[in-house]
Amino acid sequence: MHDDALLNSPDPAELDALMLIIKSFLEHLEYTLGKDKYSATRHDIFNALSYAVRDRMVERWLDTQQAYYNEDPKRVYYVSMEFLMGRTLENSLVNLGLLEQFREAMNSLGYDLDQLFDQEQDAGLGNGGLGRLAACFLDSMATKGIPGYGYGIRYEYGIFRQNIVDGSQVEIPDNWLRYRNPWELDRQEHLHPVKFYGRVVERKDAGGKPVFDWVDTEDVMAMAYDTPTPGYGTNTVNTMRLWTAKSTREFDLAFFNEGNYIRAVEKKMVTENISKVLYPADNVPEGKELRFKQEYFLACATVYDVIYRFRKTHDDLRLLPTKVAIQLNDTHPALCIPEMMRLLLDHYRLDWDTAWEITTKTFAYTNHTILPEALEKWPVWFFEHILPRHIQIIYEINDRFLAEVRKRFPGDTGKLQRMSLIEEHWERKVRMANLAIVGSHSVNGVAALHTEILKESVFRDFYEMFPGRFNNKTNGITQRRWLKCANPGQAALITDVIGDGWVKELYELTRLGDHAADPAFVAQWRQVKRENKERLARYILDHNCVQVNVDSLFDCQVKRIHEYKRQLLNVLHVITLYNRIKANPAGDFVPRTVIFSGKAAPAYFIAKLVIRLINAVGDVVNNDPEIGDRLKVVFLANYSVSLAERIFPAADLSEQISTAGTEASGTGNMKFALNGALTIGTLDGANIEIMEEVGRDNIFIFGMNAAEVEELRRKGYNPRDWYGRNAELKKVLDMIAEGRFSPDNHDLFRPIVDTLLNQGDYYMLLADYASYIAAQEEVARLYLDQDEWARKAILNCAGMGKFSSDRTIAEYAREIWEVEPMEIRPVLEFRQHDGVTES
Ligand code: IMP
Repeated sequence: MHDDALLNSPDPAELDALMLIIKSFLEHLEYTLGKDKYSATRHDIFNALSYAVRDRMVERWLDTQQAYYNEDPKRVYYVSMEFLMGRTLENSLVNLGLLEQFREAMNSLGYDLDQLFDQEQDAGLGNGGLGRLAACFLDSMATKGIPGYGYGIRYEYGIFRQNIVDGSQVEIPDNWLRYRNPWELDRQEHLHPVKFYGRVVERKDAGGKPVFDWVDTEDVMAMAYDTPTPGYGTNTVNTMRLWTAKSTREFDLAFFNEGNYIRAVEKKMVTENISKVLYPADNVPEGKELRFKQEYFLACATVYDVIYRFRKTHDDLRLLPTKVAIQLNDTHPALCIPEMMRLLLDHYRLDWDTAWEITTKTFAYTNHTILPEALEKWPVWFFEHILPRHIQIIYEINDRFLAEVRKRFPGDTGKLQRMSLIEEHWERKVRMANLAIVGSHSVNGVAALHTEILKESVFRDFYEMFPGRFNNKTNGITQRRWLKCANPGQAALITDVIGDGWVKELYELTRLGDHAADPAFVAQWRQVKRENKERLARYILDHNCVQVNVDSLFDCQVKRIHEYKRQLLNVLHVITLYNRIKANPAGDFVPRTVIFSGKAAPAYFIAKLVIRLINAVGDVVNNDPEIGDRLKVVFLANYSVSLAERIFPAADLSEQISTAGTEASGTGNMKFALNGALTIGTLDGANIEIMEEVGRDNIFIFGMNAAEVEELRRKGYNPRDWYGRNAELKKVLDMIAEGRFSPDNHDLFRPIVDTLLNQGDYYMLLADYASYIAAQEEVARLYLDQDEWARKAILNCAGMGKFSSDRTIAEYAREIWEVEPMEIRPVLEFRQHDGVTES
């Protein structure tokens, strides 16, 4: 044991605190895990440490939860099929203000805290932006003192691990719970039944009113696991409650009594499959029955819990909207709406109008996508088969709603068809977005442009009918994780000059602007970036066996692989650069390292082929001696929250190049800029607001805007015109088509070129190519002046105040939820384990 630091500690209170941490850690190692110094693995050390941290969190958590009962504030429920939490240990220590104490305590035992952080598995219960937003919101709700809960599913398998084998993506299951999850607390007592299948029987009650009984159902139990989520610099610790599926005892008995033991166990496993795996598609619905069941599973268990908690302290359900706000993270949990109606009507026997008023005043819906193919629609026969009572309720909602539409817009049958909750094609479907809009009092987009597009095109009819319902809430990110933890060098440098107020109030960063012209500060800034780049370069060498030049421009595009995000446009630029160097080997070129990372949905053929193309181009470029370190292309496998935390701090250039009008917001764009990268981007999503905040001179904007995209599409876009007109572009596409990057299979990448030249180039890469290349030339020119580049990077960081998720949450709280922050006072002296029972 290395206890010199302890012995040297001058402050007895500090010494006491350190001793308590050490004691707690050692006790967990021995009593919770049953390990000693002979048997403890590094992972055991991580777990014992995590339990010691969780203990500190649980104290504040119980205080917080009791305060919620005692003071009865309005509570917020953020319901989401995804929570992309990443790692928890470091962030918890930072939020609890215990990082340095724990570092010293672990040091005195001979452990390096940073190495222990790396032991933690990511909790990858999400696909991309939508799931990570939910995680940032939990951090911000707790930090802002909002009485909030996250509700989701405890998938046994999160987002798949991505391996790259011979350049292709290979999916490996993410068995993240294999080594236990020290942050969760299982709640066996919170076990709610969820019904599926069966039929509805109508009868009359004693008063002659119709009653609907949903009978002959197959039930599954939803069991709760709670994870405390601490705020930064407050005592508030909120709850993330995730549901896991368990078979019912009745089910077990029925099947085991049949006498076929093995078959009974198999059947039991099938019922528990509901929470087994996260669907790995981003921005495309899967349309699978199991996914539909997952969505209802979350909705049913959550609404049950919300009402149960409300009724612990209230009798009158009409007061529910004054005490509860439920935010639907996209339409995935929209079944909460008919489920709430079902409980209010069938169980609590309220009349329709009262139930509907309670429901619509309680729910709010966030839309995350404008891609038409990403709007969820479930076949009516799924409902008839799996949720027969809900489809009756949805029909009733629709009848009443369409009657209103008819009254407002007489004779407009087109409107009726478009606004109906039911799509009447050969396969009738329930439009989940229409259900969510009609059943909520608020509908929001996630960036200013996105909300405008919702109002003017996607949901235009609804906007005409309910103009007051629509509002914008531009997304944000938590600076605790994305700057303070991820980039400690830059965080310390910022704190040196403006203090640490930015950790709670990101607008404080504005003051950095005064330092952008200070040569000493600029030099320190550049030094920090360089160290971050060295760290990433080591990672690239270890994982990709590519030696990159730390002085090169680190040009990064990290996000899900999707055609609308246009990684392919980036590849076209890379090949253009390659051709230019090859044509002029002695020329002066600004060296670049182009870094890609991201997962493709396993069934998304073109996206997976793009990954293959990136790796194939990398093989050619990286091994060409004439190119040297003037151009390198690397694809970092298995993009995840923890890999993102390495990449953002090391980036010089942030690629945000989606076709204008397709990316709802983006949040990677904010993480890059906060970490001092300049953006090259289209006028899409939150890029526009980033430009407004950092100034047009400090961002590289190119390409068509959303209106121009629309206009070109309307006029008729022929990508071949662009191909014919631009010799460099033509050469690049010909090289891909002819197999220059696939010598063993010349046709391998032909489908990619086909999407551009023969299938209409829906995302208009060719139309934006020339403008993109020109913007990249501007990037290279600026990079030649390293101080000027750093100055602009500092101004980017200084302009990020708006993009804290604290700001976003404050807006939701004020404008949608109508909840007030609440201060939690510690009541440590009343702890039972201190031998004092609460009076
Ligand atoms: P839940 O709201 O039922 O999930 O309970 C979460 C936590 O709230 C419990 O662990 C208690 O700390 C606290 N709590 C639950 N019921 C009460 C109550 O009636 N009074 C005060 N605190 C409560």
